[in-house]
Amino acid sequence: MDLPTTIWTLLVFAAFSVAIVAATKIITRRRRRRQQSAAGPTTTKRPPPPVSPGIPLLGDLPALLTKGPLALIRDHYTMLGSVFTVRLFRLKLTFVVGPDVSSHFYRGLDSEISQDEVSQFTIPTFGPGIAFDVDYATRHEQFRFFGDALKPVKLRTYASLMVHEVESHFARWGQSGTVDLKQELEHLVTLITSRCLFGAAVRERMFTEVGSLLRELNDGMRLVTILFPHLPIPAHRRRDAARARLGEIFTEIVRSRKSRTDDDDDDDMLQCLLDARYKDGRGTTETEVVGMLVSALFAGQHNSSSAGTWTGARLLTHTKHLRAAVEEQRRVVARHGDRVDYDVLQEMETLHRCVKETLRLHPPALMLLRHARRSFTVRTRDGREYEVPKGHAVASPLVLHNRLPHIYDEPDKYDPDRFAPRRAEDKPGGALAYLSFGAGRHICVGEAFAYMQLKLIWSHLLRNFDMELVSPFPRTDWNVVMPGPQGKVIISYKRRPLPTTD
Ligand code: HEM
Repeated sequence: MDLPTTIWTLLVFAAFSVAIVAATKIITRRRRRRQQSAAGPTTTKRPPPPVSPGIPLLGDLPALLTKGPLALIRDHYTMLGSVFTVRLFRLKLTFVVGPDVSSHFYRGLDSEISQDEVSQFTIPTFGPGIAFDVDYATRHEQFRFFGDALKPVKLRTYASLMVHEVESHFARWGQSGTVDLKQELEHLVTLITSRCLFGAAVRERMFTEVGSLLRELNDGMRLVTILFPHLPIPAHRRRDAARARLGEIFTEIVRSRKSRTDDDDDDDMLQCLLDARYKDGRGTTETEVVGMLVSALFAGQHNSSSAGTWTGARLLTHTKHLRAAVEEQRRVVARHGDRVDYDVLQEMETLHRCVKETLRLHPPALMLLRHARRSFTVRTRDGREYEVPKGHAVASPLVLHNRLPHIYDEPDKYDPDRFAPRRAEDKPGGALAYLSFGAGRHICVGEAFAYMQLKLIWSHLLRNFDMELVSPFPRTDWNVVMPGPQGKVIISYKRRPLPTTD
């Protein structure tokens, strides 16, 4: 299946168009009868967003083929402004770029701008009974269960578990050597996440197998999956086998936890999900708990390990910021000794900004998607108003949004200081200026957990090692739904005590 990237791009976008149109038809038809009476007429009609010229029938497909998705979006933004529609066969995909025009996308009701139509492809990965396999109200409650399991009071407990995992992992490194940072962090993040989700005993037993099953799940969520979630390609077959095996492993874990008779208080997410109650009083089913564990592990593992690797690649190629981050560790150690906990982590503001800036430049997805169930109006910075028609797919391209020059000074530059209090470049744009964790109604519930994990890993590395990036700065793999660094990311390391500046 080694087709050139351009052909993949063609297939993927062709697939994407048909998928969205098909999904939209099915879901819209189901809702039309219910919504018809509620959909009031638009009082003042605004023009629709400008449409990219494209060519008859194919629309922008040829341009996509030659330029790739990122360049296509950038060019249309430059040519048509912050709201524009791209045609791909019959699909009309409207892009909204920038805080001024993104409010409805992030804050609108799901009954008006929804995720369902554009997220069905995740069902084979997450499994039955959860997320986009259930109605919005149920899904909303399930995400609340995650939120409850990731509250600050729980995070405090997770911090000490994470410290233990981080220290034992890096204790295995020698005095000096060369490693693939990407592989190392995938491994470590899986250990940490498993420990916080399932508890110590289980994590010891299952790590090796679960790590490789998760890799199969991620590899099976390709762009082509958006159209044909069940296309019989090897990656999908491996995904289905991996999901089935994960289901077996986690079911066994759930059953064994439920049958425990000792009085031990479990401090992990599994227990939170087993204890959770829907508003109508019913508890979670075994299938739901298994699905939630798979999706939490999937979300946590892939996004966080990619973010950790990008953080390394950025720091190791920006000496000024690397020095500032090491210097901060020195100050923190001087205050607290070599002990890191939840409160100590909050003091690492420089490191926090380094991770935040990394995620600004390397967000977890090219774009987030919604479906317009009703038309809505947007007003651009220069006062133009457009009505995005009902039925359009709507995209918020994180990569472009996070690099807008009217928000970020020299937006392509890695500059963590832009988030320092005296500059705070994202503040004037409000909550929609920085979108790496989403915003509004569907903002990521795992953000604090992810920061904690990433800061603990990098705090440990900066305290204990001199490192250099040996391989070239990684490229981004845009051919998967959740793009990460492409290929190996080789670093050399040398153990050393934390340097003092006295
Ligand atoms: C670096 C790590 C992470 C990044 C960059 C990230 C990014 C995001 C983004 C962009 C969204 C919004 C999706 C949308 O609006 O369509 C989101 C939602 C979500 N994330 Fe994360 N995430 C990360 C880690 C995690 C972790 C560790 C968990 C849980 C253990 C998690 C659970 C969720 C959930 C449940 C939602 C859906 C919230 C809702 O729809 O109400 N994420 N994440």
